Amino acid sequence: MSLLPNEVAKALNAVPTWDDGGHFLTGLEPGLDGIRALLDLGVAIRTHADELSRSRPLAGRTFAGMFFDPSLRTRTSMHVACNRLGADFVELQPGSGLWTMEFADQVTMDGTAAEHVYEAAGVLGRYAHVVGLRAFPTRGQWDREKSQPVHEAFASHAGVPIVNLEGPFAHPCQGLADAMTFRDLLGEPKRRKLAVTWAPHPKQLPMATVNSALWAGAAVGMDVVLTHPEGFELDPDALGHTERLAAEAGGSFRVTNDRDDAFADAEVVYAKSWGAYTGSAASASGHADAFAALRDWTVRSSDLAKGKPARFMHCLPVRRNVVVSADVLEGPQSAVLDQAENRIWGQAALLLALLGR
Ligand code: CP
Repeated sequence: MSLLPNEVAKALNAVPTWDDGGHFLTGLEPGLDGIRALLDLGVAIRTHADELSRSRPLAGRTFAGMFFDPSLRTRTSMHVACNRLGADFVELQPGSGLWTMEFADQVTMDGTAAEHVYEAAGVLGRYAHVVGLRAFPTRGQWDREKSQPVHEAFASHAGVPIVNLEGPFAHPCQGLADAMTFRDLLGEPKRRKLAVTWAPHPKQLPMATVNSALWAGAAVGMDVVLTHPEGFELDPDALGHTERLAAEAGGSFRVTNDRDDAFADAEVVYAKSWGAYTGSAASASGHADAFAALRDWTVRSSDLAKGKPARFMHCLPVRRNVVVSADVLEGPQSAVLDQAENRIWGQAALLLALLGR
């Protein structure tokens, strides 16, 4: 007897395998059809979650999740997704019980690092069927960081698929959940307006989530409008991926510094804070000045009212009354908890596609 309900098996069969060892580092690896098929699979898994918990189709499979940076949702939702499908979840936290790791090539390791990523990745690849990694950028080295060097090092040496649990350039598991949520909120998201807006934050946060949110909206064919203050431009490659996906999916993409223009007639407003990687706002003091000067970019109910009215999304964690007003966050237009729950189903789809064939 099959361990998968018919609807899940059919949705799984529709997901293409992808090259590059099955790695999921940007989330773009499966291609547009693959991304959409993963979304369908996520919905099928959500519908049949109880049956899958009983049949445990990934029993005997192991996911190792290594978190160089903090996490609530990614860590927990991946754990829950593994549990739902019967896979084991092993959590690894560098800095808390793991050997200090070296990443440089051709190095003589007579400093503090006890283990090179080459061996660490190779060993984890012998223990686990998939390795997940969260590693944020080190500010000030954007040209190097945008290639997601920690993830690439593991991808080169683990011998098993690497799943990006948020890197410098992409947060693809969040992107799957975001795209699922666009579909949940709108039914057919194609040609529906998504406003993705920069929001104030005292810290210089990474750009990974906003990149993945743009790609998610573009992949489901939305008319995506990105708005941010001058000086907070995204990486040209991230914008290029959005343009390409939008063209392929039949939607559109444009950028404006005029937030009212972005919010007008929007059906979804997606807020995210990020730090500049170039220009005067890229330094800590420049960011502090920008944060003080740009507090009116906080998303408020009056902003959502400029839409149809719009629903509100944010990846969380979120600072209330800084990024978004508390009444929006707690009000009926907020979809942030549905969005967070969809982390489970998007990641379960990815796990099944990687391990369940
Ligand atoms: N949205 C998200 O990735 O949340 P965590 O940082 O808590 O994992």
